[in-house]
Amino acid sequence: MEPNKEVVTMEKIVSLCKRRGFIFSGSEIYGGLAGTFDYGPLGVTLKKNIENIWWKMFVDDRDDMYGIDAAILMNPKAWVASGHVGGFSDPMIDCLECKSRFRTDNIIDPDEYKKFLLEKKSYESVLSREGAQKLMDDNKNVQENVEILNTHGGIFSDVLEEGEKMIGILPRVYLNVNEVKCEKCKKVSWGDSRQFNMMFSTNVGPIASDDSVTYLRPETAGGMFVNFKNVVDTMHPKLPFGMGQIGKAFRNEIAPRDFIFRVRELEQMEIEYFVHPSTWESNFEHWRVEMHRFIQTIGLESGKVHELEVTGDDLAHYSKRTIDFEFDYPFGRKELYGLAYRGDFDLSAHQEGSKQKLEYFDEEKKEKFLPHVIEPSFGVGRTMLAVLCSAYKEDTTDPEDIRPYLALAPCVAPIKLAVFPLLKNKELLTDKAKSLHKALKQQFGAVVYDETGSIGKRYRKQDEIGTPYCVTVDFESVEGNKPSSFYRNVVNFILKRNKSKLTTYTLRDRDTGKQERLTEEELFYKIKNALQ
Ligand code: GAP
Repeated sequence: MEPNKEVVTMEKIVSLCKRRGFIFSGSEIYGGLAGTFDYGPLGVTLKKNIENIWWKMFVDDRDDMYGIDAAILMNPKAWVASGHVGGFSDPMIDCLECKSRFRTDNIIDPDEYKKFLLEKKSYESVLSREGAQKLMDDNKNVQENVEILNTHGGIFSDVLEEGEKMIGILPRVYLNVNEVKCEKCKKVSWGDSRQFNMMFSTNVGPIASDDSVTYLRPETAGGMFVNFKNVVDTMHPKLPFGMGQIGKAFRNEIAPRDFIFRVRELEQMEIEYFVHPSTWESNFEHWRVEMHRFIQTIGLESGKVHELEVTGDDLAHYSKRTIDFEFDYPFGRKELYGLAYRGDFDLSAHQEGSKQKLEYFDEEKKEKFLPHVIEPSFGVGRTMLAVLCSAYKEDTTDPEDIRPYLALAPCVAPIKLAVFPLLKNKELLTDKAKSLHKALKQQFGAVVYDETGSIGKRYRKQDEIGTPYCVTVDFESVEGNKPSSFYRNVVNFILKRNKSKLTTYTLRDRDTGKQERLTEEELFYKIKNALQ
């Protein structure tokens, strides 16, 4: 039984998620809210399994990690100090015709745009006097730029500098000159590109004023930096040590897209690992390996995960080294996780912003310094999507009846085991199946009982949600069995002598569809091993 490997598409994943209760559009009955999703019964369990594995691996199982759960709303000064108020922004551009708004870097091909900037002539002509007049007629916003351009030739370099960051007039000129159509209204009518701060603001308290403004956190990291002193003062950790946090973050993305890949309300699992500046390289390497270990544990296809060394302009100003972990999603190779060496950027910014000393004192070496930070950062939604895309398979043994299934690692599967009576109208079978279900549930937790529809349909249902095993109670289970192993022959012999019967069940494997007959003891033993 060979799974057809190249079958995963976003349509299939989205449809499966909705059909089987993993993920729904946010507030769907009101028409949804762009960039938000609600996790259904199976989705929330899959998500919690992933988060629990992360927490166990990176917090509970280590002696150098401290968990934290900081508030989503923080003193706005923290976001000024961290640079988010000033700089957490993306370039955006409006279609003047239908007023749709897009991320500029999503609708401009970066290579073509680079070529365009190099061939200055193509836009210089547009910025000629007539071109300028036309642009001014189109939109008053550009008047200032163009007037300056026409009177002071030297200012052109400023426009070019902005243009390189995809802001200002040049992205607009590029789109208009190349007649790039708005994907909504199909017209070519673009405004200037502007920086757009992605933080959601809100007001704290009953009176909305400038003083009451704060923000929903755009990343969980900030809550850890502001608690650095609290953790040092209460836990007295030795360097290196880290803090780990799982929680919601909010980003007013201009263009949420690709299902749960880019959303406005997201969840992150982040670590801030504090080290002596001289040891950052070995600690960076340690976390690189640890991130791969996590990726392997949750069952991501290793061939689909790639490291991208971030270089040049793409490297954040505070980072000396960043690796993006990318995943081959059906819509392309995109960022899954980030691993960044942030130096002492955060602690020194918060030290300055809060006027509180955030230095660490090394008792042994009698040395006082600001630790440096290694930050492994994981998006929960992107992990879930990668897990689902890795697991989606189709069994094409019968081309007329393709069997889709999720080959989820048992540790993340929302349901570990399903118990069926062969027939629903035979009390002998249902009673036995119900008592077996109760016993298995007691030991393994996420075990379901199902007696609806044909046994074939019940298998299919479990395959689609990634349940690794199904146990069926049939007549042999209740009326004795045909021994098929030496062990069972012996047990059966003893049982027959005592005038009782050996109870056996069939256990079906999701990925191969193969069934084996097991005694109750064998069944519990096998499941226990498989779920470890
Ligand atoms: N503290 C560092 C930080 O927040 P980031 O690269 O902006 O870095 C970290 O985000 C991770 O959060 C990303 O690698 C991704 O997994 C996830 N993430 C970021 N923005 C997201 C969005 N809009 N939707 C879903 N996940 C997102």
